[in-house]
Amino acid sequence: MKFGYFDDARKEYVITSPKTPLPWINYLGCESFFRLISNTGGGYAFYKDAKLLRLTRYRYNNVPSDDGGHYYYIKDGDTVWNPGWQPTQTALDSYECHHGLGYSIFKSSKNGVAAEVTTFVPIGKNCEVTSVTLTNNTAASKDLQLFSYVEFCLWNAMDDMTNFQRNFSTGEVEVKGSAIYHKTEYRERRNHYALFAVNAPVAGFDTDRDSFLGAYNGYRNPEVVFSGASKNSMASGWAPIGSHNLKVSLAPGESKNFIFILAYIENPRDDKWESRGVINKKPAEALMQEFATKAQFDASLAELSAYWNNLLSTFTVKTGDEKLDRMVNIWHQYQCMVTFNMSRSASYYESGIGRGMGFRDSCQDLFGFVHLIPDRARQRIIDIASTQFEDGSAYHQYQPLTKKGNSDIGSGFNDDPLWLIAGTAAYIKESHDFSILDEIVPFDNDESKAQTLMEHLRRSFNYTRTHLGPHKLPLIGRADWNDCLNLNCFSEEPGESFQTFGPSEGPVAESVFIAGMFVKYGREYAVLCRKKGLNDEADAAEAAVNDMIQAIYKDGWDGEWFLRAYDAFGEKVGSHECEDGQIFIEPQGFCVLAGVGLENGYAQKAMDSVEAKLETKYGVMILQPAYKDYHLNLGEVSSYPPGYKENAGIFCHNNPWVSIAETCLGHGNRAFSLYKKICPAYVEEISEIHRTEPYVYSQMVAGRDAKNHGEAKNSWLTGTAAWTFVNASQHIIGVRPDYDGLVIDPCIPDTITDLTITRKFSGAVYNIHVDNSAKSQYGVKKMIVNGKEVSGCTVPFEEGVTEYNVEITM
Ligand code: GLC
Ligand code: GLC
Repeated sequence: MKFGYFDDARKEYVITSPKTPLPWINYLGCESFFRLISNTGGGYAFYKDAKLLRLTRYRYNNVPSDDGGHYYYIKDGDTVWNPGWQPTQTALDSYECHHGLGYSIFKSSKNGVAAEVTTFVPIGKNCEVTSVTLTNNTAASKDLQLFSYVEFCLWNAMDDMTNFQRNFSTGEVEVKGSAIYHKTEYRERRNHYALFAVNAPVAGFDTDRDSFLGAYNGYRNPEVVFSGASKNSMASGWAPIGSHNLKVSLAPGESKNFIFILAYIENPRDDKWESRGVINKKPAEALMQEFATKAQFDASLAELSAYWNNLLSTFTVKTGDEKLDRMVNIWHQYQCMVTFNMSRSASYYESGIGRGMGFRDSCQDLFGFVHLIPDRARQRIIDIASTQFEDGSAYHQYQPLTKKGNSDIGSGFNDDPLWLIAGTAAYIKESHDFSILDEIVPFDNDESKAQTLMEHLRRSFNYTRTHLGPHKLPLIGRADWNDCLNLNCFSEEPGESFQTFGPSEGPVAESVFIAGMFVKYGREYAVLCRKKGLNDEADAAEAAVNDMIQAIYKDGWDGEWFLRAYDAFGEKVGSHECEDGQIFIEPQGFCVLAGVGLENGYAQKAMDSVEAKLETKYGVMILQPAYKDYHLNLGEVSSYPPGYKENAGIFCHNNPWVSIAETCLGHGNRAFSLYKKICPAYVEEISEIHRTEPYVYSQMVAGRDAKNHGEAKNSWLTGTAAWTFVNASQHIIGVRPDYDGLVIDPCIPDTITDLTITRKFSGAVYNIHVDNSAKSQYGVKKMIVNGKEVSGCTVPFEEGVTEYNVEITM
């Protein structure tokens, strides 16, 4: 069952029923100001950091669900309705929600009145702008009222929902004309406030929530809206809100438009006040002038769409498979921008107060973003590396606003350091900016400890090389990529964090997954050494990688698949000898994609085992059999009920690893079939089972052992976004940036017989055509570049050439 459809020409998903199985959301904002917006108008806004600078309040886990957003109420006689259906839930005569690239549009109607509400965050501005157009489609004139509503958060979202003894007394606002200013804490240490304004004279306003709603009322039945009379309330403590009341008289056929703006405004510290207690409004007033008319609004929206069209023109494909094209050309890349911006901080499943930016997460998010805006990826690498410790280990997370490592969680996740090499190599392959390696970057944000980025990578590499266990495999520390495989934790008290409890240093638990990573990114490191002329170091790195491969063959192989780990007692994890958790996906995917086992048949065997033991119709499960009991020596992985999350869920992030591994074996059909299983566009028809948005990936789909096998959770913020885009674009379609040119090496299903690709790379445009009328799955037979045959499958750079026409025969 579907709840909408893709409109590829407009790059939108159009939702046709407000009652989607779960809120289906969109992200507005590409740079600093962000808004989460659901298909019923729910969500919230923040500036840079969803924890520390939240503009509007949102109640997670609320009932009814997703109750709370930036709302527009229309009062038409006795009927009150919302274009997004929530919160009044008044039945609409028509409803559509268009989620597009950085904007959302609601088109609805009720009793002959049509409403069109368009919201977006303008490029380069720290605000959300909303255009509301009301049209009278009846033969009689209409006297309507339009009420806006936002509820301000008192900035620190954590404090906002816990510290009521203080918060109920700090709220302050100012009102001037049609502009409402939220200035809580501005009197003391803040130099920023929020603005909520409309470009028309108001008949009234409210800034005090309880006055607006009325005692014991909710968003569904606000007293002010139903009575039609604003109270001009001035918040004093309690809960400050912003609500405008606009009288809208419409002749038959007439339309009227209003532009609302919700902004984060910052003043210089020494210019905070206009007069004693009165905030300096100059920057707010200047911003209002920029969005005073519909023409200005439209021009800014056009700028946003040009911005996205330009970004997406970097990589486009035509494969003959409509769903593949739409995911690769639009939605994969869009989700990658969102994960790049948010990491794992703010979604409908991540509360925005928890995790901030993940060290490993953000390094991987780069893979899917770096081709779009390499400069921002560059800065991100520097920010991440600045949170690394001198010994090469790293804070697991950091706060986006302060960019400081988060000491609550600390370090000890032993895969983290290697991801820095991965992210940096991806950046240099795209940009060829080797100068980044010479950047001076602090350790633990301490400038006195700064070293070159190359030195950071060296310490990353050496951290793994020097932290090996009894089998010469890397020590796992608190956990590796699987945050829940806590082999040194041994927690017996409820509520103890699996991720911070127990020692991270000392014990001998080892990870075959990190071993696979070391092969892959150790080799990347060796290449970087060579590029810098450090040949001895490169040789030594390669030797260490070869030793690791031997260690994997000797003690990391279980007979039919790769072992997952050794626990703190040296017992095997992920072996046929185990009762549960006999096989894990991560080492199969990662070792094979790193090239381990290609020469001795292990790779093929591992893939066969994955297919036989882990694959379901909804994707590949993370492990089997699911852990039935809690195991002290395994930690959080065994804390989840069977089939969920890391305990045998289909943890989407690692599915592309297996698909990429299949491409390493030349299996185009297998790779593509695995790709499709978890790809949202291909499961759109079963939205009643899958339940999350059909245009983006979710972190997890319930595995075979779970009651709701096939049900997805935790949409949007997942490493699946970047890895799937990498898989689809670089491995299946096979176009990958490299140091010496553009590699074109498709591994496609035999059903794709004709492939057209455009790739902008290193200042040139590549127009690529692949002829696969032979219905091959892998193997470039012939490549002609600008009329000349070139051997191999890399298009080498040629001085001064800005357009490469590439004709490939498979
Ligand atoms: C979450 C985390 C990620 C981790 C994964 C597996 O997605 O953000 O860092 O690798 O879970 O546990
Ligand atoms: C939990 C989740 C895991 C996530 C981690 C982040 O362990 O199961 O997926 O990576 O929290 O801290």
